[in-house]
Amino acid sequence: MLIQEHDVQQVANAMMNMLHEDEIELINNFYDAVKAKDIEKIDELFKALLVEVEAHFKTEEELMEQSAYADMQMHKSDHDVMRKKLAKFHKRWEVLKGPKELQGFLEKDFKKWYTGHVSKWDSQAAPHIA
Ligand SMILES: [Fe+2]
Ligand SMILES: [Fe+2]
Repeated sequence: MLIQEHDVQQVANAMMNMLHEDEIELINNFYDAVKAKDIEKIDELFKALLVEVEAHFKTEEELMEQSAYADMQMHKSDHDVMRKKLAKFHKRWEVLKGPKELQGFLEKDFKKWYTGHVSKWDSQAAPHIA
């Protein structure tokens, strides 16, 4: 398990909390496959994670836009940082199939980004969006 439910702050928006909870389950399944070096499962779950993360980010961005939330661009920029990293690591995965590299990324970078992003940007936006 990479991220426990209590590592991720609850925010003042039920939709956002739901998005996070569903995603954490997928992240943990993905991490388990990476640790087990299960190439086929990583292939499958990496793609599923990209779809899930995009849906999560897009939903938040649409909610912020609809509510004309002032800090939307800054929040979106932080999503874009992770969009780019995930795309980069997925491209490298397709060529190298290197679980060690993915494990390092998940443990040292992704987890910190995820919990930090929710505590800062999501919790700030949550009370302002519908
Ligand atoms: Fe979020
Ligand atoms: Fe966010």
